[in-house]
Amino acid sequence: MTLYEIIFKRRSVRKYDRTPLDEKTLNDIRAFITNTRQLQGQNARFDIVSADKVKGASAPHYIMSFCPPGDAAYANVGYVLEKADLYIQSLGLGGLWLGFGKQKEKESGFCIMLAFGQSTVPFRTSEKEFNRLSISEISNKDNHLAQAARLAPSACNSQPWKLFFGDGCVTVRYFGRGLTQMLLKSKMSKIDMGIITRHIVTALENEGKEVKSITPKTSGKDFEIEMIYE
Ligand SMILES: Cc1cc2nc3c(=O)[nH]c(=O)nc-3n(C[C@H](O)[C@H](O)[C@H](O)COP(=O)(O)O)c2cc1C
Repeated sequence: MTLYEIIFKRRSVRKYDRTPLDEKTLNDIRAFITNTRQLQGQNARFDIVSADKVKGASAPHYIMSFCPPGDAAYANVGYVLEKADLYIQSLGLGGLWLGFGKQKEKESGFCIMLAFGQSTVPFRTSEKEFNRLSISEISNKDNHLAQAARLAPSACNSQPWKLFFGDGCVTVRYFGRGLTQMLLKSKMSKIDMGIITRHIVTALENEGKEVKSITPKTSGKDFEIEMIYE
């Protein structure tokens, strides 16, 4: 399955076979992350570690991410790691974003971790299995891009965004919803913004479009990411 197809099938997997994956698979995932282009001006670091580095681990492997503090830096981690999440699931493995995951030994610049490994939890078989807001609640247009964006995972399923389509461009604007959003650290929602950006870019590429620029913009408490395409 392509990464685009995985958007419509993926899920958060919380039950794993603890047997470590073989070296080739781990090397493929490592190479995939290294070859994933980061947002302009960003240079996050990603490490694959085993369960012994994580408190209360349930999966055999974890991708650890590190970046300086900042909206664009957090969005970049979401953007890169969501591609890894889709890739991992395209290999038939399970993956899970872990905003509440804790390292056994804290390292400076740590941002978030993503668990992965073998699992017998099945993929979703239809869009109906996703618990998400409707397109009209999150977007000014209903099209293939909005449909792929809508299924993006977010911390506590808070879906803190709205989409605005223009001519050759789409902007995702941070839009906090309700109590859950107040409880979430702002870092988490900026990661969510990067994740939905990845879904939109994957859908654009699936339609043969060329993404010309992806620009995160912070203004006071507002945060948005603008994508321009042809
Ligand atoms: C940034 C982020 C952090 C998350 N942190 C956790 C977590 O700490 N524990 C957990 O069980 N799920 C976590 N999740 C998974 C979300 O709860 C899940 O993506 C959401 O409920 C939607 O479900 P789905 O991924 O199966 O489509 C996180 C997801 C994201 C995007």
